[in-house]
Amino acid sequence: MRINPETVDRIKQTADIVEVVGDFVSLKKKGANYSACCPFHNEKSPSFNVNPVRQIFKCFGCGAAGDAIKFVMDIDGVGYGEALRYLANKYQIEIQEEEVTDEEALRQNTRDSLYIILNFAKNFYQQQLHETDEGQSVGISYFRERGFTSDIQKKFELGYSTDTWDALTKEALQKGYTADILSKAGLLIHKEGSQTAGYDRFRGRVIFPIHNVAGKVIAFGARILKTDKSQPKYLNSPETEVYHKSDILYGIYQAKNAIRQLEACYLVEGYTDVVSLHQAGIENVVASSGTSLTTEQIRLIGRFTPNITILYDGDMAGIKAALRGLDLVLEEGLNVSIVLFPDGEDPDSYVRRVGAEAFKEYLKKASRDFITFKTETLLQDAGNDPFRLAAVIGEVVNSIIKIPDAIKRQVFFHRTSEMMKVDEQMLISEGNKLLRKLHTQPKPQERGNRPGNFAPQGPQDIPFSDDGPPPDFFESESPAAPEETDEQTQRTKLYYQEEAFIRLLVLYGANELEPTISVCAYVLGEIQGIDFKDPVFHHLLTLFRENFGRQIVLQTDYFQNHHESEIRDLTISWLTSKYELSSLWTEKFEIYVPSEIDVLDKSSFINILRLKKAFIEEKMKICMEDLKKATTEEDENAIMNEYIFYKGISMAAAKELGSVIG
Ligand code: UTP
Ligand code: MN
Repeated sequence: MRINPETVDRIKQTADIVEVVGDFVSLKKKGANYSACCPFHNEKSPSFNVNPVRQIFKCFGCGAAGDAIKFVMDIDGVGYGEALRYLANKYQIEIQEEEVTDEEALRQNTRDSLYIILNFAKNFYQQQLHETDEGQSVGISYFRERGFTSDIQKKFELGYSTDTWDALTKEALQKGYTADILSKAGLLIHKEGSQTAGYDRFRGRVIFPIHNVAGKVIAFGARILKTDKSQPKYLNSPETEVYHKSDILYGIYQAKNAIRQLEACYLVEGYTDVVSLHQAGIENVVASSGTSLTTEQIRLIGRFTPNITILYDGDMAGIKAALRGLDLVLEEGLNVSIVLFPDGEDPDSYVRRVGAEAFKEYLKKASRDFITFKTETLLQDAGNDPFRLAAVIGEVVNSIIKIPDAIKRQVFFHRTSEMMKVDEQMLISEGNKLLRKLHTQPKPQERGNRPGNFAPQGPQDIPFSDDGPPPDFFESESPAAPEETDEQTQRTKLYYQEEAFIRLLVLYGANELEPTISVCAYVLGEIQGIDFKDPVFHHLLTLFRENFGRQIVLQTDYFQNHHESEIRDLTISWLTSKYELSSLWTEKFEIYVPSEIDVLDKSSFINILRLKKAFIEEKMKICMEDLKKATTEEDENAIMNEYIFYKGISMAAAKELGSVIG
């Protein structure tokens, strides 16, 4: 069927980009626009923007952009027609279609036809549940026995496949669907060499349709009801073009609003756990369906909330295996807690036994943050064996360093040091060692991946780049582990300060501070004698200086159209992030970024002071190094004097900074 042009127009006029996008990601209002973490690429701070006036979205990180229809097409991986249908359905716009046969629609593209056949199968299974004797006597009574109301059966679109060889296939073929598409959808099993079309994959089972985020059926899980040892309890759809097991969570469509509202997500193992908890009024719950958690699944949750609580019913061996996989949740910057259930209980059985209120109480009481849980579990397991204890320390530290947030890391170093009865500083320097090892393993990354090339992202977004790890990874206030912390931190900090500086010149160099004094003239005058360490920034600074010597102030255009792509890219990333750097960024790196042109003079002044301070601190550090190597008392005194001299300047700069920012 083809949607007629008038309907298309109505859909376009009615669909609101903020609402449409808001169904998939949590949008935060930011001025006139909305922002979120981009659903199309992996990031931890938002560079995805929605403009309600122009009705478009754009990601400054990956470049994805378009209107509401394009968004649905991209997020759902569907064609134009399917996207329109989705929007029409959302806004209850009746679709006027022009005569095109079902077959034609099927041919449009495989994905669309897979969705169509899967939807057909879902309806068929529901019909089998309600309208056949077998469905009622076996299927419905099973659901009743499990305590599923008919409302909840409808909500999850549960169904039943009769205990026959080819009920679905027959019906589908008769309706004009092909055996090929049935088998591509994982519904039909065809034995090679066989003369017949084949037989249904799901037979004599209750059916749990698996929906994608947009609510489309993409696969099925099916539970056996007989006790047949030769058959698996659950049978699932195979991987298909629309079903990638590792990317999807059962229940995400039904749970997403609650997850967003409550800013928390429960993760369980089974289909029945999800359904049961919903029925008990706990709707922010999804299942990994028996597989171990994947990064894609975690990111999917992360689109709606950073807070995940894992409800476990596993035994010790299972728990330990799962613990290993969970580090990746930490890496994604999410907050993870764990709840263990009493032996032999799973969330489904437990909620049915104790009721919704007691269940919620239990979650509150039994919930442990992941690191604490891991430490506790491993400690118990290790007993008093010193070798195993050492291994525990290693494992715990290894998890802690995966947490992108410095403050959180500090809290956990502190807490676990008490739990393991070891010195906190020891843990921190152990962590730094591990990080350094990680970091020194060469990574084939281009300069193009440097932090400066990313648009408005916070410091946690910076992967281990060639320029050093995120600076705060090496932070430690303690004097006990100074060697672990210094050089790289400082170098990176310097990098950001240099960047802030050069960015100011590139973006605002030609602006007038006062009549006849440009930003460029002012800042270049202030930083005479200072050179930048980063080769690209050095290059840019030199360009400014050379041209300024010839009375030329280079403009943003010049850099935007520079023949070196690196300089072009940097400029463009600065331009797009012009007004959007987060306060986190600015605070962490002590960079003052102008949010408006009229604070320019202040910001350039502050940046100069900070740059000076950074250089002085660098010099002080060199003094300290020299001091260690000094052999005579004379040398020592000379170095000490130099140090005190710098210290004085640094303090003065700090004071001045304080009063300027104050
Ligand atoms: P469980 O065996 O714990 O099942 O498997 P359950 O969810 O508690 O189901 P009931 O209560 O016995 O009906 C947990 C999950 O592991 C997957 C399913 O997704 C299941 O929900 N699984 C289990 C399979 O995929 N295949 C199996 O054979 C068993
Ligand atoms: Mn169960």
